[in-house]
Amino acid sequence: MQRLLVTGGAGFIGSNFVHHVVAHTDASVTVLDKLTYAASREALAGLPADRVELVVGDVADEAAVDPLVAGHDAVVHFAAESHNDNSLADPSPFIRTNLVGTFTILEAVRRHDRRLHHVSTDEVYGDLALDDPKRFTEDTPYNPSSPYSASKAGSDHLVRAWIRSFGLRATVSNCSNNYGPWQHVEKFIPRQITNVIDGIRPKLYGSGENVRDWIHAEDHSSAVLTILERGTLGETYLIGADGEQSNLEVVRLILTLMGRGADEFDHVNDRAGHDLRYAIESGKLRSELGWRPRFSDFEAGLADTIRWYEEHEDWWRPAKAATEASYAAKGQ
Ligand code: NAD
Ligand code: DAU
Repeated sequence: MQRLLVTGGAGFIGSNFVHHVVAHTDASVTVLDKLTYAASREALAGLPADRVELVVGDVADEAAVDPLVAGHDAVVHFAAESHNDNSLADPSPFIRTNLVGTFTILEAVRRHDRRLHHVSTDEVYGDLALDDPKRFTEDTPYNPSSPYSASKAGSDHLVRAWIRSFGLRATVSNCSNNYGPWQHVEKFIPRQITNVIDGIRPKLYGSGENVRDWIHAEDHSSAVLTILERGTLGETYLIGADGEQSNLEVVRLILTLMGRGADEFDHVNDRAGHDLRYAIESGKLRSELGWRPRFSDFEAGLADTIRWYEEHEDWWRPAKAATEASYAAKGQ
């Protein structure tokens, strides 16, 4: 696979994936990205110009998508509106990008008979009870809670329908919560790190007992590349790194690693429809494709991430005040 089209490649995980591909393969990459508020050109800086090109465009725009898909061997589809809280405030861009955008990609991939990998989320499965011994598997029924997760669930269903009805050469992955460099300050971990840097107390939604299954973005990238190269066409793979932590535990760890008292946080208004717990069973990806995460020590990965935000204030600072103002307006 020499020519890859990576949608959403200027976002948090997509940009990590582009760096990963350049470092670990000989492929050339075209990024198709609308450059929304969540994108950053800086995350793609330093990549070799003869191997990586950025095309600014919308995945829901057929005229932009069709020739790009035609000119590449495979498409890795990351582009999405990705933040649950935003989807509660205004679902419309989520429907357009995540559903119409995926439909547009699928039709182009079908017309030109290209390989597709669709990147999705564990949120399509809804949530688990805190004491449930089960984790999500590829067979867990879909039960999304938010406009974001429902739009991603719909996009997964579209991909599977195109596989079954049209024989599309595609795979799907559903991953748990990512952390690492270049994540927008609206998201939980960067928000709390940058709050502490600014002398603001971290904000926990509701009780803070909600559990997320954390994985480093670099491990998500290596898993997606593994599936693209060796995955069985038509199959879905869950991606996770056994990183379950309650939000309370994560906030306390951030505070401690940043030299503050572990209880120097505030409880704020809960998220509507807030999922309680996500947990991934990634045995299929590990046993069938031999994938393993590299970042198995969450505390060490979090410490690196804190250092990265301390050293990259120029990057996150422009988005911080408006993000906090928007949360403050909701009592969060
Ligand atoms: P992000 O919000 O950081 O980046 C999304 C990127 O998509 C941005 O660069 C944005 O400009 C681009 N984009 C948005 N709308 C577009 C459009 N209409 N056309 C072209 N580009 C558009 O998101 P992320 O956290 O990097 O997530 C990437 C993908 O991974 C998403 O599909 C998301 O559902 C999935 N995912 C994310 C996580 C996570 O923890 N962040 C976990 C599992 C799966
Ligand atoms: O599980 C995968 C999903 O993980 C991805 O599909 C999404 O794109 C990604 O945004 C993420 O969704 P979450 O809603 O889990 O992530 P978020 O960072 O918004 O919140 C993580 C947890 O922290 C969640 O339980 C809500 C809580 N939270 C969030 C913020 C922003 C707080 O307690 N305080 C906060 O300030």
